[in-house]
Amino acid sequence: MAQQKFDFLIIGSGIAGLSFALKTAAHGKVLIITKANEDETNTKYAQGGIAAVWNEHDNFEKHIQDTFDAGANLNDDEAVRTVVTQAPERIQELMDIGTSFDKTAEGSFDLAREGGHSEHRILHYKDATGKEIERALLKKVHEHPNITIANHYFAIDIITQHHLGEIVTSNTKDITCYGVYVLNIRSQKIETILSKITCMATGGVGQVYATTTNPLIATGDGIAMVYRAKGYVQDMEFVQFHPTSLYNPNEQPSFLISEAVRGFGAVLRNADGTEFMQQYDQRGSLAPRDIVARAIDNEMKITGNDYLYLDCRHLDRKGFIEHFPNIYNKCMSLGIDPFKQMIPVVPAAHYLCGGIVVNKQAQSSIQHLYAVGECSRTGLHGANRLASNSLLEAVVYAHNGSKDAIEKMKTIAFKDAVPNWNAEGTEHPEEMVLITQSLKEVQQIMSNYVGIVRSPLRLQRAFDRLEILYKENETLYDKTTISPKLCQLRNLICVGYLIIKHAMRRKESVGLHYMLR
Ligand code: FAD
Ligand code: SIN
Repeated sequence: MAQQKFDFLIIGSGIAGLSFALKTAAHGKVLIITKANEDETNTKYAQGGIAAVWNEHDNFEKHIQDTFDAGANLNDDEAVRTVVTQAPERIQELMDIGTSFDKTAEGSFDLAREGGHSEHRILHYKDATGKEIERALLKKVHEHPNITIANHYFAIDIITQHHLGEIVTSNTKDITCYGVYVLNIRSQKIETILSKITCMATGGVGQVYATTTNPLIATGDGIAMVYRAKGYVQDMEFVQFHPTSLYNPNEQPSFLISEAVRGFGAVLRNADGTEFMQQYDQRGSLAPRDIVARAIDNEMKITGNDYLYLDCRHLDRKGFIEHFPNIYNKCMSLGIDPFKQMIPVVPAAHYLCGGIVVNKQAQSSIQHLYAVGECSRTGLHGANRLASNSLLEAVVYAHNGSKDAIEKMKTIAFKDAVPNWNAEGTEHPEEMVLITQSLKEVQQIMSNYVGIVRSPLRLQRAFDRLEILYKENETLYDKTTISPKLCQLRNLICVGYLIIKHAMRRKESVGLHYMLR
């Protein structure tokens, strides 16, 4: 099969991939591949907004300090300063391409507040900020003559010396990415796509847990691909659980009740109506996420309940519906009137702070391979991400990374003699029952033993159980036809393994990693 060649190959069509594409497109041919419909991304589900210093009450030092406080000071100083100080410029660019953010009647931006922020500094579009950003970015991408976007293209593995039979003798820094093997889900053919620069923008890993706010695409594919290619991955123990997803046991993914609702005045309560957060932190319901999620987890264990409540009954109805129309409609559709009843909420896996290690230019440890967005580990978040800092991180690193990539691209030639994969794939796996069952087991193992509260015994048990699933799945992978579902399971097992391994290494409790002794 003929091999396609692109100057820039981007895997993922969320805020990170689309931003990287728009930044590089004036300098070469760009292909974006995405395994589902182009807008099916974590980005589309982002509610609260994007953080930036935007008015005279606020300043960069405050946003920097809040980011460090949330991250338990494990943050990388330069990453924090770069992201915070570039925020206004990058957000202005989003507006320049047509993104709307809500304004007050007086015409200034309607800045919201979320957990861990000492100021109102979240720009938002109602409670659907991600959808609005994704819409604007996709429109611009479609208009650009240099950008092709291929939907339903599933990246299986990045191509390195390993696939050419070349031995990398010295150290892992010599590993180079030449492109990607991709399953074209519609034609069921595995294609070879060669690139000068490849950018991983594959998003998060929420699907490794049984309860998550992340859509089905969030299976950590990019992180697993890079790990298999011997790239560096770090900080995987820092999985953020959002304190308030809507308790609705059969809904997958869990619907988020934005932290901005607490910023608007909603209060967490027990089944008996007690406001319990003050016992845990003086910032109450608006303490950073790790503290609130842990407090809810603890209260649920003490009371034996499967959920707690978010009380909105005292809030201004008109203002609430204006700010949170989707949340209001969702609650009403389930028969919960937020002004009459408290909303049942439960923590859910939400965001990964770690991932593919990158430098300040978004370059990974693998040559010619960049990583941006949630799949990357920039050091910005430390041990716990500050709310609404992740959309921001994606646009800042897409900007800085693209500048570096454009210069490098000019010096890189396409690799010769890359072999084709020479196999067909399928959308419908032969042994679906095995895949479905193993996936459930992975999610249960991770939720039960590697969730908000961990212990050495729980981690060891998770490790042992996952090892069995790993071996079983490798056998299935070797014996059956490649399919996205099989590959995703393989990637989730890899991600689960990395979370456990990194959690075992970190002995102390810090940020999102809380260990019982
Ligand atoms: P994504 O937007 O997830 O995009 C990943 C892309 O990669 C998708 O197109 C996917 O199909 C593709 N992909 C993955 N694997 C493959 C593969 N193997 N082959 C081909 N394509 C692949 N952050 C904030 O800052 N503010 C918020 O208010 C906020 N609210 C949130 C609310 C929810 C419910 C969720 C889930 C997250 C929220 N976040 C928020 C986090 C934020 O949305 C994400 O971190 C961010 O959108 C990630 O963007 P991304 O471009 O890195 O990845
Ligand atoms: C939310 O709206 O609560 C999510 C914000 C975030 O994850 O940054």
